[in-house]
Amino acid sequence: MNKLPTYLGQITSVSGASIFVELTPQVMSGLLVIEGKTHRIGQVGSFVRIPQGYNNLFGIISETSEHTDIKDSTNKKSTSRLIKVELVGEAIGSDFERGISQFPSISEEVHLVTEEDLKNIYGTQNDGQIIIGKLSSSDSINVSIDLDNLVNKHSAILGSTGSGKSTSVASLLRAIVTSHTQNILMPSARIVLFDLHGEYSSALSDIANVFSINAEKGTKELYIPYWCVAPESLIDFLCGNNADLKNKFMDLIVQEKLEFANKNQNLNLDSNKITPYTPIPFSLKKIWYDLYHFDTVNWNEKAMETPAYKDGGKGDIDKLIAPSFRPPETKNDGFTKKGGDNKWKKNLDTMRSRLLDNQYTFFLNPGAWTPNSDYKVTKDLQHLIKSWIGSDKPITILDLSGMPSDRLDLLLGSMLDILFESAIWSKNLDVGMKKNPLLLVMEEAHRYLSTDNSGLSKSMVRRIAKEGRKFGVGSMLISQRPSEIDETILSQCGTLFSLRISNATDRSRVKSAMSDSLSGIVDSLPILRTGEAIVTGEAAKLPMRFKFRIPQKGQFPNSHDPKVSENWSSDRTDHNFEDLVKSWRLQDTTKH
Ligand SMILES: Nc1ncnc2c1ncn2[C@@H]1O[C@H](COP(=O)(O)OP(=O)(O)OP(=O)(O)O)[C@@H](O)[C@H]1O
Ligand SMILES: [Mg+2]
Repeated sequence: MNKLPTYLGQITSVSGASIFVELTPQVMSGLLVIEGKTHRIGQVGSFVRIPQGYNNLFGIISETSEHTDIKDSTNKKSTSRLIKVELVGEAIGSDFERGISQFPSISEEVHLVTEEDLKNIYGTQNDGQIIIGKLSSSDSINVSIDLDNLVNKHSAILGSTGSGKSTSVASLLRAIVTSHTQNILMPSARIVLFDLHGEYSSALSDIANVFSINAEKGTKELYIPYWCVAPESLIDFLCGNNADLKNKFMDLIVQEKLEFANKNQNLNLDSNKITPYTPIPFSLKKIWYDLYHFDTVNWNEKAMETPAYKDGGKGDIDKLIAPSFRPPETKNDGFTKKGGDNKWKKNLDTMRSRLLDNQYTFFLNPGAWTPNSDYKVTKDLQHLIKSWIGSDKPITILDLSGMPSDRLDLLLGSMLDILFESAIWSKNLDVGMKKNPLLLVMEEAHRYLSTDNSGLSKSMVRRIAKEGRKFGVGSMLISQRPSEIDETILSQCGTLFSLRISNATDRSRVKSAMSDSLSGIVDSLPILRTGEAIVTGEAAKLPMRFKFRIPQKGQFPNSHDPKVSENWSSDRTDHNFEDLVKSWRLQDTTKH
């Protein structure tokens, strides 16, 4: 019987989802010409088809090997080529599905997958499929992923430094919200990107609002009001870990929040439900003053009714001047009773210097979100949430590059907290994320999600990874050190995009995180080209090796490799480092 031109060989063994195929001698040259197109045979990562009557099984080649047998009688050598194939899916008619319903048997035929077949697998443009690039093995075939699964089941983009992660993320986000002609396809998308190095505004400014601490032209001022932050973390940051002080601090927070509710009756706040965690504005300066007062006070009388201020020693809340008291005395001509224990001075001095530190203005003195002495704010929490996820553009970039890096965990964690709590409390509302889901894209995830980290960011990401789907919040983690990311978090990422990974430890982590058993493909991770990736998991119909769409000119992130040889070989100029020092002192990397 004449075999079809796509015939590759027959199955010699089946073991679970792996099958071994002996290639027919006709394809020993390694090339097969079908319909005028040359196909390479037995390439790791390429597909094969196993016809099963009306159905077809599909698999990916994961290994190839050659065997030489010496036949005893004739002493002739015979060489056979074997390929190992991992079964990945099944097409019933032209509908391709992941997973297989039946196993193939020994001796069944295995065929090359032609472009026509591939188009069948990838080409069907269902709703919710986003074209993100082209198949590596065939430039004419688009690769698409399922947006619902990508967002709902979380994802990670992994790759060594310089492998093209940031560029790919920019390309991916653009592919999600715009069509190939740059028309906005998803005007209601809610994507928040935490940009640790300020790379993305150059890539996405036409479709994104950018918030930054050092707002320049075209970007908006980023504020993270301290009163939306988990109070324990805030207190630790302000005055260190002191259990006594923390209790008093918490009491004062509640007291201030109650006063706010009282002064803003129009908000209809229920005082019985106010806890330190309720996101209600309070004044940190007032609390600092009250704590200082409590800790150092002396009284004019035994009944402790009037504080024994020194002359002019009442202090000033707004200017952060502490009250000062006359020392205790019991002489005949005077009386001052000792009040406070004087044990928090150091902590409160730290708190004061934090409040005065310009680096933290965006956090501790958050513009229109700072309550005045009348307990009024110009802008409330809803304005903040609206600016982040309810603005006119589908993407919001929160540029954290100007933030003190040692506080990254607290600040990022706080923003995640605000967004996740918003999702929880809007579960049944029209504005909620269940109705209009939110995707959180987090760069440099290894910095705050490492195994030994126990900060706020990590606990928030863990929560989002576990519960996000129920509230319409999805996450996308980006990292160059997958081996340093907490395993539980990585294992919750349903879709993995792996770009080039050279480090063996990182590679083995990625291998174990990939749900499909595709060791052969994972072994090709170190040889991927820049911008090329393997995608596996929920959002991908099949595991595939592909190239992300290259952004158009002017739409690259600001992360170009420095041109060493070009710049070093140019004429030496006399550099003036004044601007450098100015930037450093102003903590501002924009050009002056
Ligand atoms: N698809 C691509 N084609 C060509 N060049 C690319 C592609 N993707 C990225 N590059 C280039 O490779 C370099 C590194 O890219 P990128 O900054 O995206 O890497 P990265 O993985 O984010 O690195 P890091 O881990 O250091 O942040 C840049 O100069 C970028 O312009
Ligand atoms: Mg990057």
